[in-house]
Amino acid sequence: IPVDPFDLVVFGGTGDLARRKILPALFRRFCAGQMPKTARIIGAARSDMSDASYAQLVADAVREFSPGAESHAEMLDDFLKGVSYVQIDAMGEDGWAELTQKVTSVDRVEAYYFSVAPSLFGPLAERLQGHGLADRKARIVVEKPFGRDLETAKALNATLARYFDETQIYRIDHYLGKETVQNLMAVRFGNMLFEPLWNSQFVDHIQVTVAETVGVGGRGEYYDRAGAMRDMVQNHLMQLLCLIAMEPPARFDPDAVRDEKLKVIRALEPVEPHHIVRGQYEADANDIENHPDYRTAAGNPRSKTESFVALKTHIANWRWAGTPFYLRTGKRMRERSSEISIVFKETPHSIFAEDAGRHRNVLSIKLQPNEGITLGVTIKEPGPGGMRLIDVPLDMTFAEALGPDGGESVDAYERLIMDVIRGNQTLFMRGDEVEAAWGWTDPIIQGWTDRGDVPKPYDSFSDGPDASAQLMGRDNREWRKI
Ligand code: BG6
Repeated sequence: IPVDPFDLVVFGGTGDLARRKILPALFRRFCAGQMPKTARIIGAARSDMSDASYAQLVADAVREFSPGAESHAEMLDDFLKGVSYVQIDAMGEDGWAELTQKVTSVDRVEAYYFSVAPSLFGPLAERLQGHGLADRKARIVVEKPFGRDLETAKALNATLARYFDETQIYRIDHYLGKETVQNLMAVRFGNMLFEPLWNSQFVDHIQVTVAETVGVGGRGEYYDRAGAMRDMVQNHLMQLLCLIAMEPPARFDPDAVRDEKLKVIRALEPVEPHHIVRGQYEADANDIENHPDYRTAAGNPRSKTESFVALKTHIANWRWAGTPFYLRTGKRMRERSSEISIVFKETPHSIFAEDAGRHRNVLSIKLQPNEGITLGVTIKEPGPGGMRLIDVPLDMTFAEALGPDGGESVDAYERLIMDVIRGNQTLFMRGDEVEAAWGWTDPIIQGWTDRGDVPKPYDSFSDGPDASAQLMGRDNREWRKI
């Protein structure tokens, strides 16, 4: 179903995120027929550029980052008809009159995507309002990082609140737009099977892994000031944790869902220093030139920033008391693999004398690269050998059930941008959620600073520092294979 006609202004329209994600995502929705032909995309940035050269930049970006775009040459021409450019000064007055003329002429949804450095969020919001562009119809889309701690996040929320109502602010966490993340909610709240077992009585522990093979090369300056805790845990991993742990909302609507997520964050226990491991990757001995160590890649030889974090936490409420949640994420790990695993408890008593094994059902939800859900079940080992048991996956990789393509694949940014136009905030973070998340991560980061903590080295393309395995080992558990 096509969305309503809209004007989308992309501040930072020539930047990396716009080229890699936003513009290709819009083009794919255009090809899918979801974007009305009258929709307009207005790039806005500092460079002096004509509409035609911006259209060229958009075409190049789409070709480079949207595989298969070549075969849609006519579509691309059509798409570019809706593309234009305004040279604008976020800190001054240049360009604003022109922008105002472009967007206020017709009755349509207006959205402003802040794909710029966070220091410009305030000035942009102020100017939008100053030029009469911040009325109730306008929506702003704000990228991460949303602050670097509770104090800065609060200040940012306060600044935006001066010009926009919370219902107009769309804080993006692109993990919430991933297909399987939404499937997590469908599995939990669309089936009778799992929810009765979804608590500490039946769940031994939960693990969330977001492992990447990439290093920090190219983004060193930002990353070295952030580290894995701010870059990944405070947002993506905590959002996943919330969706796993929250109570069933009464309705699938933005505030009902976000109220429940907020309760989870507020119930998170502080993390003990010995329940958290920080790591920093070393060079890949086989290819030091292309895969240097973290400090070289980040351009800071004395950096104490972590490129890996593993931690254990608890949620202090009736549902989860006693069930640990283990989270880990890192750069330059063995594989690119993001997975949530719900590890159920062992059966209370084994009736099979021949079987000495330890069997646990595991529901694992794979976000990437191969999306799917698997349920590990215990069955009899085939053959004449008596009642020996083995664990096998009951596969739900969707591909078979949904046809050869596994259904239409929609990238996180495609979904989230269309949600902005539809005015649906369910998959966006509310201001109080972001603040609560910083409220939990701040003392952890402060503790490292106070103790002068130095991250543990780990080999490139490994599972992270040994201490991460030990964090699990001490509890007689282990991480799932990456
Ligand atoms: C971003 C982080 O938010 O998410 C990056 O800033 C990280 O450091 C990226 O690489 C991971 O996203 P995805 O979708 O590739 O898993």
